[in-house]
Amino acid sequence: TNPSEVSWLGTPISELKRMPECGEPLSPLKDVPGHHTVMIRTDLLKKDKVPVPYPTRFQDAWNDVHVKMPCSSRNLFPIEDEVKAQNAMLKYSPSHAKKWDFTASLVLSKVLEPDAAEHLFESLLPDMVQLALRASELCTKPIPLLKAGMNHSITMSQEQVACLLANAFFCTFPRRNSRKTEYSNYPDINFFRLFEGSSAKKIEKLKTLMCYFKSVTEKMPTGLVTFTRKSLDKPPNWKSSQTPLTKLHITCEGTIEDDGYGMLQVDFANRFVGGGVTGSGLVQEEIRFLINPELIVSRLFTEALDHNECLIITGTQQYSKYTGYAQTYQWGGSHLDTTPSDGWQRRCTSIVAIDALQFRNFLEQFRPDRLNRELNKAYCGFARPEEKSQNLAAVATGNWGCGVFGGDTRLKALLQMLAAAEAGRDVAYFTFGDSQLMTDVHNMHSFLIQKNISVGKVYDLLGQYYSSECKNCLGRRPDVSLYSFIYQQVNSSVAPDDSNMGSARQ
Ligand code: AR6
Repeated sequence: TNPSEVSWLGTPISELKRMPECGEPLSPLKDVPGHHTVMIRTDLLKKDKVPVPYPTRFQDAWNDVHVKMPCSSRNLFPIEDEVKAQNAMLKYSPSHAKKWDFTASLVLSKVLEPDAAEHLFESLLPDMVQLALRASELCTKPIPLLKAGMNHSITMSQEQVACLLANAFFCTFPRRNSRKTEYSNYPDINFFRLFEGSSAKKIEKLKTLMCYFKSVTEKMPTGLVTFTRKSLDKPPNWKSSQTPLTKLHITCEGTIEDDGYGMLQVDFANRFVGGGVTGSGLVQEEIRFLINPELIVSRLFTEALDHNECLIITGTQQYSKYTGYAQTYQWGGSHLDTTPSDGWQRRCTSIVAIDALQFRNFLEQFRPDRLNRELNKAYCGFARPEEKSQNLAAVATGNWGCGVFGGDTRLKALLQMLAAAEAGRDVAYFTFGDSQLMTDVHNMHSFLIQKNISVGKVYDLLGQYYSSECKNCLGRRPDVSLYSFIYQQVNSSVAPDDSNMGSARQ
């Protein structure tokens, strides 16, 4: 066969585990003070019914461990009932009224078909205002801030998420319109930057978000979403690990979100989760946050991630399709998400936000401290020590840290394979069109499996590569590539007649 026709290599994707099939039944959903904040009545949960908020009356908490709500009596800029959308926004923060410009939203009204523009101003925006104003009725329990170092989950209904996002759209979250507040280490939540300027990118982002608001205001979804912040207290001992590599499916076609359904899907994140989604960013993470906008609410309460932390979001729904990427991104119409739900009424879509390091210098990423950081970050995202390996879905990932963040795809693929193996998960790797990368990573994986090379041994080889090929390079790229080095080292350390697979070196 013509090699250019090969679109995948390794284990067939049908042999990798997905949720809900691979999972064990969940224990009953329960609020556990200090560990899991549940914002709805668990006793009244019913399939296809919008969950009932808990408690009944709004609990006002204006302090440094909870989200400061627009409807708090302590908010100096309360929004009055029945205010018109833009007025509300300008009135809310008069100091910003001049600075904020609404070009994008005005242009949006022009690029829309006349019917759609009329719908926007006559129906959609007023419905969104009504939804935003229900905050004190819907989000009655104080929302804990997920601060650095915390291991804590928040479960809320899609309706509660929608109400919070409507408030984000109208920029009503207090103390969140400037970075010079107690929230300086949090992502932006209010959407004001989306309304600045009139770039084609901003218009497509707004169309994608309006598709979400249209969907939820017309028919409120009935599911729940869980946000879990997790830190790794004890990193694995990489050097001594005897763990063998797990299975790899690698393909140059498809995407994490489409073909990785039911798997643990990696968000190539920023330490401020969502990155530039409410501003100008438009790559993997931002696109995912736009098509699954419920992810955006994590920005309300998730402090910047530390090196040993991740955020796991389970249950978000995809509302939009898209075409293109970055500059060529376009909203592709509404999407009907048919993902089945779990025992907690959450869609079986788990997304893990892990932020790679950004490298300006190519050699830097091979430094042992950097390797450890990336391994531990990925492992934090992938490992579920409380669950059996047989119940864990595969990791759906790709060129993590290798676009905007400048990492080396071959190194990062290997690091993610080590972290996944240590976590007891298989890997589905999407090279995003790169067929050479598909071949190279597949060959390396097969070689390591065939030679019975453990996680610890690969880790050791990475260290050797740094000290013998990178350390004294003085800024130049190393003469020997990482994969060539691994083939050489392994082949020279075993009996010569053992295998000739390493001759397939790149
Ligand atoms: N499925 C599989 N692979 C993809 C997909 C997809 N849907 N989309 C992109 N890729 P990048 P980073 C591939 O640059 O380097 C954001 O602003 C494609 O090959 O988004 O970790 C964050 O907020 C692409 O080049 O990730 C951070 O600030 C590669 O994945 C920053 O970018 C990397 O995508 C993170 O940058």
